[in-house]
Amino acid sequence: MNTPILVTGGTGTLGRHVVARLREKGADVRVLTRNPRPAADGVTYVVGDLATGAGADAAIEGVNTIVHCAGSQKGDEVKARHLMAAAARAGVGHVVYISVVGADRVPVTSAIDRAMFGYVAAKRAAEEIVAGSGVPYTTLRATQFHELAFTAVAAMAKLPVVFAPGGTKLQPIAADEVAARLVELALGEPQGLVADMGGPRAYLFADLARGYLRATGRRRPIVSFPAPGAAARSYRAGANLTPEHAVGHQTWEEFLTQRLAV
Ligand SMILES: NC(=O)c1ccc[n+]([C@@H]2O[C@H](COP(=O)([O-])OP(=O)(O)OC[C@H]3O[C@@H](n4cnc5c(N)ncnc54)[C@H](OP(=O)(O)O)[C@@H]3O)[C@@H](O)[C@H]2O)c1
Repeated sequence: MNTPILVTGGTGTLGRHVVARLREKGADVRVLTRNPRPAADGVTYVVGDLATGAGADAAIEGVNTIVHCAGSQKGDEVKARHLMAAAARAGVGHVVYISVVGADRVPVTSAIDRAMFGYVAAKRAAEEIVAGSGVPYTTLRATQFHELAFTAVAAMAKLPVVFAPGGTKLQPIAADEVAARLVELALGEPQGLVADMGGPRAYLFADLARGYLRATGRRRPIVSFPAPGAAARSYRAGANLTPEHAVGHQTWEEFLTQRLAV
């Protein structure tokens, strides 16, 4: 048996692809999750909660590489603090962290920014915790996943009128393509902050919604309005986009076709 690679968030949208791709490469995989489940197909599951740090030491025991994909709308800096403290105690050789494009560029200063973009500030704080932990690391910033954009527009399309943040673009990318890059990074040497990764095209939010409505055969008026605050303004200026790293292949239209075929 090989030394297992620990994947936090290995049950999530991104982490599931990371686990599958690591298995394809022949790696033994351990997943940290809040919910116990039986081992299967070369993957074992260890219960832990990074919001409290419970179970982190046990999950890391005997591990040299961690791919840290656990995340949620709030508190990613707390999760990073607990994980990196445990990783430093155990002398882990490499932590690969997934952050978000714009984490360093989106100002989150006012109460309105924090309410709408607190997630981005937490990712930035988590990046700093990873970098300052003393554990060798690699951080990759990716743009929004197609899966997240799909959930967002599907929720918006439940209303009779679709309200889209005006002037805001997303550059969605397939989570599996990000997973492939994370696996490549995890199997290599620590590199610190690496080049951003973005989807092949940027779309106005309203156009993502329009594509979804068309693909699902619905008709809804779309009303665009600019969201308030400095963080929203920076999004309108493209702080969440990486046109120079539009390396993803699957387009939003291809994703919609695939997703709606099942
Ligand atoms: N979604 C995007 O568009 C996007 C873009 C760029 C970067 N990212 C980053 O990519 C990562 C994965 O995103 P995702 O969309 O795959 O998320 P997701 O589908 O919501 O999955 C979240 C994962 O995090 C785990 N998790 C949440 N809270 C935890 C806690 N307190 N302790 C331990 N595990 C916890 C969950 O595991 P259990 O429920 O099994 O415990 C689950 O596997 C996040 O760090 C996110 O910030 C996402």
